[in-house]
Amino acid sequence: PLVTTTEMFKKAYDGGYAIGAFNVNNMEIVQGITEAAKEVNAPLILQVSKGARAYANHTYLMKLVEAAVIETGLPICLHLDHGDSFETCKSCIDGGFTSVMIDASSKPFAENIEITKKVVEYAHDHGVVVEAELGALAGVEDEVNVSAEASHYTRPEEVEEFVSKTGCDSLAIAIGTSHGAYKFTAAQCTRNEKGELVPPPLRFDILDEVVKRLPGFPIVLHGSSSVPQEFVKMINENGGKMPDAVGIPEEQLRQAARGAVCKINIDSDLRLAMTGTIRKFMAEHPDKFDPREYLKPARAAIQAMVKHKLIDVLGCDGK
Ligand code: G3H
Ligand code: 13P
Ligand code: ZN
Repeated sequence: PLVTTTEMFKKAYDGGYAIGAFNVNNMEIVQGITEAAKEVNAPLILQVSKGARAYANHTYLMKLVEAAVIETGLPICLHLDHGDSFETCKSCIDGGFTSVMIDASSKPFAENIEITKKVVEYAHDHGVVVEAELGALAGVEDEVNVSAEASHYTRPEEVEEFVSKTGCDSLAIAIGTSHGAYKFTAAQCTRNEKGELVPPPLRFDILDEVVKRLPGFPIVLHGSSSVPQEFVKMINENGGKMPDAVGIPEEQLRQAARGAVCKINIDSDLRLAMTGTIRKFMAEHPDKFDPREYLKPARAAIQAMVKHKLIDVLGCDGK
């Protein structure tokens, strides 16, 4: 059966690693991620956004993830990513998810507390855990588009009151990440000797302040794709156009995973691996039209990339 993150996070916190939370939208993505986790024996969080539920339908996603549990035998948590309302969270809790995120981070502090508390009460009554968020990531959060000016880092002085009043089980914080493949503008970055963009470092000072106030409490990082340049290059060399796509350097994620960050969210890197591989296949084989022929290497690319992340970035292999 699906598990919650309670035990996963406790072990990850104490063990200095993080659990990968990967977004899933279809069978090949589920298979690529879960086969990688099976190879290295890693616990997993598979997460589904409101958009994913709209695309694939709740039941299909649920059954795909249940199939992965049967096929891998791993502890897998099924999590709602960026729940936008009590109703969306309730629907996932009633529908068998073991974890939900209520993202009311764009609302005023008191309102965020109020709605999060309501979700926590319902979730805990049903054996489900809740992730909440304080602070706003720049960029697009599902349908909520946070402009650069409206975004702000998490205020460490708010975290204790928030967690104690809501009873949430984990907390997503904003320390400089954002969603998507364009996390920083070229103007925010410097360039290395290869001419690649080097983004400004994450605000580990804010994370430290949060941890001081919430010792032992699991912290979540959204927007944690690294935007591997090999896939950006593969896309750009095969008819795509993604100039200056840049993500979070892996060493910084490793550093976060060693500390209080227990859950690291990755979606864009899956999309890049899949799209790059399919673009390359299409360019090289203009005559082919069997979807299995291009979905197979795309799934394999996801598997290889996730395996690397589980071992070298998250450190959750064999846990
Ligand atoms: O938080 C954003 C995730 O990457 C999910 O994206 O809303 O397009 O499914 P989505
Ligand atoms: P990325 O866009 O960096 O993969 O972030 C995904 C995420 O935070 C999903 O909630
Ligand atoms: Zn997110």
